[in-house]
Amino acid sequence: MTNYSSISGIILAAGKGTRIKSELPKCVHSVCDVSMVEHVARAMRGAGALKPAVVVGYQAEVLKSSLGEGYFFAHQEEQLGTGHATLMAQSVLDQNIKTVFIAPGDAPLLTSEVFENLLKHHQESHAKLTLATCRLEDPKGYGRVVRNDQGLPVRIVEEKDGTPEILSIKEVCTGVYCVETEFLWKYLPKLSSSNAQNEYYLTDLIEHLSKNEQNVQTVCFEDQNLFLGVNDRWQLAQANQIMQQRILKSHALNGVTLMDLNSIQIGADVEIESDAIIGAMTVLKGKTQIGSGSQIGPFSMINNSKIGKKCEILMSQVQASTIQDGARCGPFANIRPHTVLSERAKIGNFVEVKNALIGEKVSVSHLSYVGDAVVGAHTNIGAGTITCNYDGYAKHQTEIGSNVFVGSNSTLIAPITVQDGAIIGAGSVITKNVPSNALGLGRSKQENKESWAIQWRQRKQQSK
Ligand code: UD1
Ligand code: MG
Repeated sequence: MTNYSSISGIILAAGKGTRIKSELPKCVHSVCDVSMVEHVARAMRGAGALKPAVVVGYQAEVLKSSLGEGYFFAHQEEQLGTGHATLMAQSVLDQNIKTVFIAPGDAPLLTSEVFENLLKHHQESHAKLTLATCRLEDPKGYGRVVRNDQGLPVRIVEEKDGTPEILSIKEVCTGVYCVETEFLWKYLPKLSSSNAQNEYYLTDLIEHLSKNEQNVQTVCFEDQNLFLGVNDRWQLAQANQIMQQRILKSHALNGVTLMDLNSIQIGADVEIESDAIIGAMTVLKGKTQIGSGSQIGPFSMINNSKIGKKCEILMSQVQASTIQDGARCGPFANIRPHTVLSERAKIGNFVEVKNALIGEKVSVSHLSYVGDAVVGAHTNIGAGTITCNYDGYAKHQTEIGSNVFVGSNSTLIAPITVQDGAIIGAGSVITKNVPSNALGLGRSKQENKESWAIQWRQRKQQSK
């Protein structure tokens, strides 16, 4: 009895993908923020596959670094066909692996259920190879599944090798398989490249196995979208749209309100708690997390950030930052990397914050720049305040204590410290530290000249 507990996967991703017209290898292109090849790997892993082997070739280093740890990489120097590519994985895969999934790296819509169903049938029928197939109204471009009188699959014929009779077959090879490694490594070296494309076709394995009376099975899937192979940017856009619908639906069913299915974009790795509301024209990217009861958007972009519960982000951008419970941003706030907005802080319109720790209930409501700064709890930063953090050579820190009141249009020249409870007079240019509870004033004194305006107008009238 075959031991099915050791399952892994082989992902074929060595091709350049000429039709995608890109500097990057095709399989690195993203669908909903995750590369196509990673989508395939995740689907395999979800069905129990251990560390998969990825066959790389064109711009191998780019592909490898995009995937990172957790993969075996096999190099295919020359792209001699899918059969040859698969054989390259033999030397890197764990020798104890008895069963492998094989899939192309350009099929990002594959799901764990596809691999689970394939494996289930494979196990139940004690097959040596099980191929996922699909019936297409327009099968053009795909390999066709040829069956014998008993209805058993005997070979796959590629579009370029097909007679008109074969090309009329609607059942196609999806390029997704479950195979016993013993038979894979036995028959792959026997493939020949005498075909229309002079390539070693992985699909020819089916003919070899069936000729040798080995059990070959197929599972025919209804949903053809699962197997969409991305060859050009139009197919990339279509894959993105289908994946986006899946992601939106799963969030909606988890209790997230989505105000506009046509304009909201949510990446595959975004996590959202129930009762959050996502407004129109809002993009959530990277490893973003949104807490329960928060309202994000309309017109907002959040990237790699953690937003707490009951926050409000309106028409604003947040990058690589943390927004704690009950904090509010916008409209038109720009929260740049390494910012923490503590609970119930408020960042208002046309305010930019960068690399700053903003304390609890701090208010920066209008037209300010706070960068490389620490601001203590309950401090109020008046309209038009600027932390001058850059002297043209280096960045400097501004430290503002708690319960400070910074009057409007103040300029704080860093490095500088304003201690707890201090007040800065509006319009000040602050160049010296301000002690606790002091008034810091840095502006010229006002002088009023009595009746000066009347005399001035008279002078003007006379000289007319
Ligand atoms: C393949 C199948 C076809 C099937 C279709 C489904 C073969 C011979 N044909 O055709 O029956 O209907 O997939 O999408 O297998 N690759 C390599 N090295 C190579 C060649 C390809 O790594 O030498 C990789 C590519 O990067 C790609 C995948 O294998 O990710 C599939 O190759 P592709 O050329 O797209 O095969 P198809 O012509 O689509
Ligand atoms: Mg293809």
